Amino acid sequence: MYPKMLQDSLKAVEAARDENTAYEPERMTAEEKDALLAAYHPDYKKSEFSTLKIGANKGESVPHELCEMLQAHSRIKAEDIDLNDITYDVDVLIIGGGGAGASAAIEADNAGAKTMIVTKLRIGDANTMMAEGGIQAADKPNDSPAIHYLDAFGGGHFAAKPELLAKLVCDAPEAIQWLNGLGVEFDKAPDGTMITTHGGGTSRKRMHAAKDYSGAEIMRTLRDEVLNRGIPVVDFTSAIELILDDKGNAAGAVLMNMETQELTVARAKTVIIATGGAGRMHYQGFPTSNHYGATADGLVLAYRAGAKLLYADTLQYHPTGAAFPQQIFGALVTEKVRSLGAKLVNRDGRVFMHPLETRDVAAASIIRECSDRGEGVDTGNGKAVWLDTPMIEKVGGEGTIEKRIPAMMRMFASYGIDIRKEPILVYPTLHYQNGGIDINVTGMSSCVENLYVAGEAVGGIHGRNRLMGNSLLDIIVFGRTAGRNAAVKSKDVSLGSLTLEHIARFDKERKDAGIVTDAVSPKLLPDYRRHK
Ligand code: FUM
Repeated sequence: MYPKMLQDSLKAVEAARDENTAYEPERMTAEEKDALLAAYHPDYKKSEFSTLKIGANKGESVPHELCEMLQAHSRIKAEDIDLNDITYDVDVLIIGGGGAGASAAIEADNAGAKTMIVTKLRIGDANTMMAEGGIQAADKPNDSPAIHYLDAFGGGHFAAKPELLAKLVCDAPEAIQWLNGLGVEFDKAPDGTMITTHGGGTSRKRMHAAKDYSGAEIMRTLRDEVLNRGIPVVDFTSAIELILDDKGNAAGAVLMNMETQELTVARAKTVIIATGGAGRMHYQGFPTSNHYGATADGLVLAYRAGAKLLYADTLQYHPTGAAFPQQIFGALVTEKVRSLGAKLVNRDGRVFMHPLETRDVAAASIIRECSDRGEGVDTGNGKAVWLDTPMIEKVGGEGTIEKRIPAMMRMFASYGIDIRKEPILVYPTLHYQNGGIDINVTGMSSCVENLYVAGEAVGGIHGRNRLMGNSLLDIIVFGRTAGRNAAVKSKDVSLGSLTLEHIARFDKERKDAGIVTDAVSPKLLPDYRRHK
């Protein structure tokens, strides 16, 4: 139920619905997109970025909040930690209990490695669980990994590392079969074939989904598999510093119990960072679709240990975060809503863009509409645009919403909004970290030997913008790759003595660069307390 202040605009949207449903908006040209991004996309707002003064990416720009964390002090002093007092001793230590970490654990276990997951919340408390729309794979007769590659490479502004993207798309069909075999209940037609839809920037229908809770369905399955195999999971425990050996290779982590703050040492022949994203850093004050623990921890741990980041200056603002009611401000409204036929319309009920432009372009287009051009809707809590969900039933027939996006229907219904009959209000929300730790195609950090990375903590798979459904895909493809390779590598590793000397090296760099800060990192959890 919308308040009185929105009624005039709502009437305009309703009046234009039939015409808008039939209308086929034009795609923007490359020049139009470039101009739009430069003027309105948050990644292009130079005042929101700082230059790193230390570390492997010295001289590069990253968001202020990330810069502060990357250059901050460790949470520990090396001399306070007894590295001979080893609580956990494993072949493969996996930091992070989301989809990438779980996939890595399953494959490391398959390869016979003694494997352990450590996670600061519980296994499954991760962005994977919150993913809605689906997972891409070119497994239909009219499609191919080569076409998938071209879509993703163009959508990412031709910046993806070719060998990583090639692996992503080539391994995709098998990844779907693997998940299907583990028990993921994908949407299927009566004859058993997978139902696939478009996403923004896809030239073929290759989005496989489990209604609009694809991530929860995948995470449920992976978590069951990890637990059924008896792979140890140490939960409510964060990794707060990597441990290296005397050759400078990754060799474990210092762990902190989130409740008692007790510190323990985990020694490992190989380490996998699968810590996910950074939405809870709230860059540029944006709300987020991310889970509570998405605070860029993996980037911080790896950076202090000498790893290089790639594209840490590029974030994804999902075009359609919920903008009303306030209780769900920033929550994800899946792109699948647009795949199924809903269009974005402004205050006057006018369609202002093709609904399936790539995400960066769609987000910038909405921000432009809500800028001083004055085409946005005043929600009483900022500006927004309408996403005209009743169009879905006009295009797909009655019952489509309940069948294909039931979670979305329920979320809005609990605030008295029936999305089958009324449109919803949306505005971009911080959704994904396009950049992350630089890896090679085996999943290992380009700078720190025996340190593997998987999932959202990786940079370079997608370039400078990611297409919908390629993230659930990358956690599986690169999670499995990292798990397998880390396990195989661990067989040849003979660990030298453990050290935390990199902390002192980093402290010296900071001091020499004249950086004065009290900040400590990793952040671990967002701080939502009111400070005077
Ligand atoms: O819109 C969505 O359902 C999000 C998907 C993704 O980020 O891949």
